[in-house]
Amino acid sequence: MKPLVAIFDTTLRDGEQSPGCSMRPAEKLRLARQIERLGVDVIEAGFPIASAGEVESVEAVAQEIRSVKVAALCRTKPADIEAAGKALKRAARPLIHTFLATSDIHLKHKLKLTRAEALRDAIAGVAQARSFGAEVEFSAEDASRTEYGYLREVLRAVFEAGASVLNVPDTVGYALPHEYAEMVGRLVEDIPGAVISVHCHNDLGLAVANSIAAIQAGARQVECTVNGIGERAGNTALEELVMALRVRGEAVGADTAVRSELLAPSSAALASITGVWPQPNKAIVGRNAFAHEAGIHQHGVLANPLTYEIMTPASVGVADSLLVLGKHSGKHAVDARLRQLGVCLEPAELESVTARVKELADRTKFVYDEDLRALVAHVAEPRARLVRYQSLSGNQILPTATVELELEGARRSASAVGNGPLDAALKAADAALGFEVELLEMHTRAVTAGKDALAEVIMRVLHHGVESTGQAAGTDSIEAALRAYLSAVGAARRAREAA
Ligand code: KIV
Ligand code: ZN
Repeated sequence: MKPLVAIFDTTLRDGEQSPGCSMRPAEKLRLARQIERLGVDVIEAGFPIASAGEVESVEAVAQEIRSVKVAALCRTKPADIEAAGKALKRAARPLIHTFLATSDIHLKHKLKLTRAEALRDAIAGVAQARSFGAEVEFSAEDASRTEYGYLREVLRAVFEAGASVLNVPDTVGYALPHEYAEMVGRLVEDIPGAVISVHCHNDLGLAVANSIAAIQAGARQVECTVNGIGERAGNTALEELVMALRVRGEAVGADTAVRSELLAPSSAALASITGVWPQPNKAIVGRNAFAHEAGIHQHGVLANPLTYEIMTPASVGVADSLLVLGKHSGKHAVDARLRQLGVCLEPAELESVTARVKELADRTKFVYDEDLRALVAHVAEPRARLVRYQSLSGNQILPTATVELELEGARRSASAVGNGPLDAALKAADAALGFEVELLEMHTRAVTAGKDALAEVIMRVLHHGVESTGQAAGTDSIEAALRAYLSAVGAARRAREAA
């Protein structure tokens, strides 16, 4: 039997550090439930010292996610470790993940520490983390650019101090597969008994290749993120790594316990929360990953899928959109379908989604899986909410809109004209809000095919120095845009309050 490599999912931590991918605590918890079902071994829930929102997220995930380890990140500073240890207090299987850079570049220019001082801090940090009774992982940040002798000295010392997992990040995505594999192979030999873990960034597009090379050299944990999101060019994409091992496991000599049929639903769950969809040609989960355009290819696939498909769409959870729900569907039907899609909601959230399903089915008759996912993405209780709006538009009149909204419990309304119906509606919303909001970005997409498809709108705004994202879906794209706008404004106000 092939050895299993542990999958350490850091979508909620490193992934969340991608521009535009920040998540609120309730969103992180919803995604954590899906990632737990996916069958990973560790979920890194956040970086508690960073903010009150991060503490809330880690606590919520630690309390609810019982079947996999829950990790919290911290530097080796005493206050960081304390924050991580406390946030994981209720976890069934806590893992404190502490890190310190070991490369001379980082020590000299960032940390202003000598090698001896960094070694001392790493040992002290691991000892403090162990005092919480949690399992401890130590990461030597920028390991791939660290002089090998010093890297081994630090890792041996922290292993003796109680860190059972030693992670050697390619922090800046600089390593080539053979170099990275050589470093991992030497560590496996030089520190017997330790689990060597890898964490690769994708700056040269080599994160998955480096992770696979490391597995072949003996690494037994890989850190990755759904859709490969993460700092800069991102991290090792979980779905790519898992399918490389599933399809080419014999050649690599390893597998994972991940349930591959939940990969596409997990990708969609993340994208509908962040509003950042993978590019169409993204391996495994991109819209075109199983689309055959060329006639020769279509002919081959029809004759036998093996001609051009190395894995089936079903094996990664890609199925044709199913017609499942209508206006007579009750909350049990909605819940059952959502669970098949990998989404588990709280009772109040389920009530709210069921009401939206009925509302939508009244208008469009059919509710497809994609519609359902889009509706789920918008169940969070809004700070600012649209009550009603009216719009007058045409190519011979001045577009005009009136908007009534509720902001933190108070109703306000206003009218405005604009250079189009959307401009008029957003100007009316601004006038009703009574304060400045800058619209940074807006994306609209049809969730399903057909003229009556739901439109999903994602807005990124800047309000009092805080950037935030809001999403909404509806058959009326102006209404969806207003809801997305107000949701983003509400999120910015909440984030400002929490800061
Ligand atoms: O890229 C990196 O080095 C990290 C560490 C904190 C694990 O994310
Ligand atoms: Zn990283």
